[in-house]
Amino acid sequence: MDTDRLDSEARAILKGNDRGGYTIPTAGLYPYQWNWDSAFSALGIATFDPARAWTELETLLSGQWDHGMVPHILFHRPDPGYFPGPDIWAGRGPIASSGITQPPVAATAIRWLLARDPAGRDRAAALFPGLLAWHRWFMTYRCAGGRIFVTHPWESGRDNAPDWDGAMAAIDPVGVAPYRRRDTDHVDAAMRPTKADYDRYLWLVQFGRDIDWNAAQIARDCPFRVADPGMHFILLRATRDLGALAAALGQDSAEICGWIATLEAGAEALWNPDLGAFDAFDLNSGARAGALTNGSFLCWYGGIDRPGMRAHLARVTAALPHGLPSLDPADPRFEAKRYWRGPVWAVMNLMAGIGMADMGLRAEAEALRQGTARLIGENGFAEYFDPVTGAPAGGGAFSWTAAVWLAWASPSSQGG
Ligand code: GLC
Repeated sequence: MDTDRLDSEARAILKGNDRGGYTIPTAGLYPYQWNWDSAFSALGIATFDPARAWTELETLLSGQWDHGMVPHILFHRPDPGYFPGPDIWAGRGPIASSGITQPPVAATAIRWLLARDPAGRDRAAALFPGLLAWHRWFMTYRCAGGRIFVTHPWESGRDNAPDWDGAMAAIDPVGVAPYRRRDTDHVDAAMRPTKADYDRYLWLVQFGRDIDWNAAQIARDCPFRVADPGMHFILLRATRDLGALAAALGQDSAEICGWIATLEAGAEALWNPDLGAFDAFDLNSGARAGALTNGSFLCWYGGIDRPGMRAHLARVTAALPHGLPSLDPADPRFEAKRYWRGPVWAVMNLMAGIGMADMGLRAEAEALRQGTARLIGENGFAEYFDPVTGAPAGGGAFSWTAAVWLAWASPSSQGG
């Protein structure tokens, strides 16, 4: 593997996707600032330009709404090639935005940056209150019985995962204004969510917009309220990192410790005894999704271990040449190329791998890291990959894949 060439290609992708203070995921398909994409991009940028990495997160937090939410998309500059854009969302923040959030990787990213760039301490201190307010927003408006839920599949970051199938089927998308998708102009439709999904995505956007994104009302009345293991474990990890930041910055962490205890207890409720795994739970119907996904495999990242999850990991990784798939290949809903219903996503691998290493699964973590490096080295910086063939899928020149390479997968990231 030509590490130097791949490192410089990854840097070129992140620089090429830089729009001045923020990094787009990829030109064409995703021309704005996405929330968790930016947090991951910052990890990659930090390997060659730490000052610019801090800016990435500052720009993200500059879109924070009054009540604390940090939106999933910031529409800094209009781009007619993307749908649904700012006019459809009608967000209420200081910058044109969507009305939902995305997995909160930012606190983890800021702790990561501070460890590598102690000179950024003042910048971390300035970001801390915004992070705290965002986490408080999660605990106020996205927490039920200790479980973190999403009110739109896009909020989870795993758009068409089977976790949402039951809740999506219960929605009758009447009254969705006529629309034209733009994603399928850029990428083969077989790799994207279906039209039935899309109608419901837009119906849910209309639901939120029609009540002016009233957070309390959405938390209570949204027809789509699904507890998400991926979001839960990412928030749990980020809250631990927020606590560590509070300690490093001399801030009080009592409230943060309370959140950690709530989320640890909530994780127990996400355990599905029939599946022998953590999985999603529909708060409106009371049904469990019965899906083992790469969201489930973030348990270690959240600091939670279970023998049953180790057994699933061994089985799933042995069944496929390229892990970690976004859905158990033994699940009849598995589709190797369709987005979050099978493909491998480098950012999920990074989180799962870091979690495994932390929790003592060192060999598994190292195998995952090296497998991710091979996948990228042989197939390029794709949005995601087919776990059976390794073929690149979705968009190309993708920022978060480049960032995962630089921050974790590349041999150069390991000091060798
Ligand atoms: C897709 C992904 C989401 C990501 C976005 C931009 O919607 O599902 O996780 O943030 O693209 O890359």
